[in-house]
Amino acid sequence: MPKDSIPSPDILLDIQDLSVEFRTPRGRVKALRNISFPIRKKRIIGIVGESGSGKSTVLWALLGLLAKNAEVTSGEVRFDGRDLLTAKEAHMRAIRGEDISVVFQDPMTSQIPVLTYARQMRDILYRRPGLSTAAKRRMAVEMLAKVGIPDPDRRIEQYPHHFSGGMRQRAGIAMALLTGPQLLLADEPTTALDVTMEAQIIHLLKDLQKELDATVVVVSHNLGLIAELCDDVVVMYAGEVVESGDVREIFHNAQHPYTRALLECDPARIDDVSRKLPVIPGDIPDLTKTLSGCIYAPRCQRARPVCRQILPPDVARGGFGLARCHLLDGPHRDPDWPPPLTVMTLGQDGTGAIKAPRRHSDKPLLEVSDLNVQFETVGPVRARLKGLTQRHVDAVLDVSLSIAPGETLGLVGESGSGKTTLGRCVLNLVTSQSGSVRFEGQDIRNMPESRFKPLRRDMAMMFQDPVGSLSPRKSVRALITEPFQIHGVTGDDLDAKF
Ligand SMILES: Nc1ncnc2c1ncn2[C@@H]1O[C@H](COP(=O)(O)OP(=O)(O)O)[C@@H](O)[C@H]1O
Ligand SMILES: [Mg+2]
Repeated sequence: MPKDSIPSPDILLDIQDLSVEFRTPRGRVKALRNISFPIRKKRIIGIVGESGSGKSTVLWALLGLLAKNAEVTSGEVRFDGRDLLTAKEAHMRAIRGEDISVVFQDPMTSQIPVLTYARQMRDILYRRPGLSTAAKRRMAVEMLAKVGIPDPDRRIEQYPHHFSGGMRQRAGIAMALLTGPQLLLADEPTTALDVTMEAQIIHLLKDLQKELDATVVVVSHNLGLIAELCDDVVVMYAGEVVESGDVREIFHNAQHPYTRALLECDPARIDDVSRKLPVIPGDIPDLTKTLSGCIYAPRCQRARPVCRQILPPDVARGGFGLARCHLLDGPHRDPDWPPPLTVMTLGQDGTGAIKAPRRHSDKPLLEVSDLNVQFETVGPVRARLKGLTQRHVDAVLDVSLSIAPGETLGLVGESGSGKTTLGRCVLNLVTSQSGSVRFEGQDIRNMPESRFKPLRRDMAMMFQDPVGSLSPRKSVRALITEPFQIHGVTGDDLDAKF
C-alpha cells in the first residue's frame, strides 16, 4: 500500500522496511525481508499466506516479543509517534496489554489452567491501582457478557478446563479487550475450533470491532475467514508482502500469480468434475539461502528469466494497495495478465484428476453396523442419590458405514458429535455397547487386546495435533522406529525402512 495515498491520521501503526532474521544451526533464516504496510485505523486487516510465510513473526515483532534468536535487521514500526522496535522494554510492557493486545490460536496453552478467569482477568488489570478488586471483577464480568459468555457472574469463578473450546476462545477475546486496547492482534484465532464455532467467533470479532471502534489484525491461512471478516488484506509469501489491498480487490481482482494460485486452491472452489483440488507445485524456498529476483518465481507458472534475476516493482493498483510482479508493469508487462477468474492459472497435471469410480464388487475393508458407544457420566451411587435415571451419554448412536479398499471416507460433524469416538472404537481403544465392526470380514469389536494387537499393524491413526501426540523427549528416528519395535519387526534394517 503506497503510503502517500493514505492520509497519515488514518494510519494507526505503520510498518516500514521491516526485516527479521533468526539465528539457527542451519544458518540465518531470513524470515521477513523488507516488509512495509500500514495498519489503518478502525479496520480489520487480514494477513494471509501459507504456513512459514512469516505471518506470526510480523505479530511478534509488533509486540516486541520475538524469540531470543531473532534479530531485527532493518525497519521501523511507528505507533503513536514512536518506533516500537527501538522502544525500551518498560515502554513495550506498558504498550502490550494496554494499547496492543493479542488473542492466540490455542487458548488452552495461552490461558493459565490453575487460575480462575476472575483471577486471570484481575491480574490483567494490574496497571489500574485506582480500581478496587470489586470494580475489576465488575469490568471483567461485563466483558465476558459482551463476548457472549452466558451467566458470566457465575462462570467467571470457573477455570479454563470448565469452558468448551469456543467459550475459551471467547474468554480469550474478553481478556484481550479488557484494557480497551487500540489494536487487537489475533493469530489464527479459530484454527483450533470447528466450523460452526469458527463462524461464531468471526461474527463476534466483527461485532466487537464495530462496537468498540477497535483496529484488528487477524492472521490466518484460511481465505474464507479473511474474506468474511476483513476490510484490508495483506498477502505474504516466504517473508515478503506480495500483494495488498481492499478485500474486494484481492478476492475479485487478484493481480499477483501467488494470490491467484491461493484463490484457485481454496477448497470452497473445488471443481466437482475432477474433484481434485489444485495445488501450487513446489515448496516455500529455503530462507537461509541468498534470494534474488521474485521470491515466487520458482513456483510461478508464468515466470520468465527476468523474474529469477530482478526484484519486481511494487505496482500500485486501484484505490490503495499494491502487487509485486513483473507481469503488471514495466518492460516485462503482460497485457493478458491476469486472466478472468474463470480461467485456471494453475496447470493441472491430470494425474489422478478423475477419481476412479468406486467398484461396487469390492468387499468392504471396514464395515461398521449399528454401532453404539455410551459413556457413563455419573456413578451408580450418585445417580441413586440424585434420583437420576439416565447415567449414560450416547457418544455414537446406531452408526453404520462401509469403506472399500483404496477408498477415502470423510467424517464430518461439529465437535462433540462422535467422530473421534468412532475412530477410536475402530482401533479398539474404546469399548462399545452394541453393533459390529468388521475389518476384512472379521468382527473386531471389543476384541481382547492380545488378539487385536496383530491387526494394529494394518491400521494407523493420525492425530490432530502432532505437538500433543508425539513425545517431545524422543527424536524423530526413535518415534518412527518405535512401531517396528512394538510389533517385533527385527532383523530388518530399521534405518533402511526409515
Ligand atoms: N524462533 C525461531 N527460530 C528459527 N526460525 C524461526 C523461528 N520462528 C520462526 N522461524 C522461521 O521463520 C519463518 C516464518 O515463520 P512464521 O512467522 O511462524 O510463519 P507463519 O506464521 O506464516 O506460519 C519460517 O521459516 C520459520 O521456520
Ligand atoms: Mg503462524
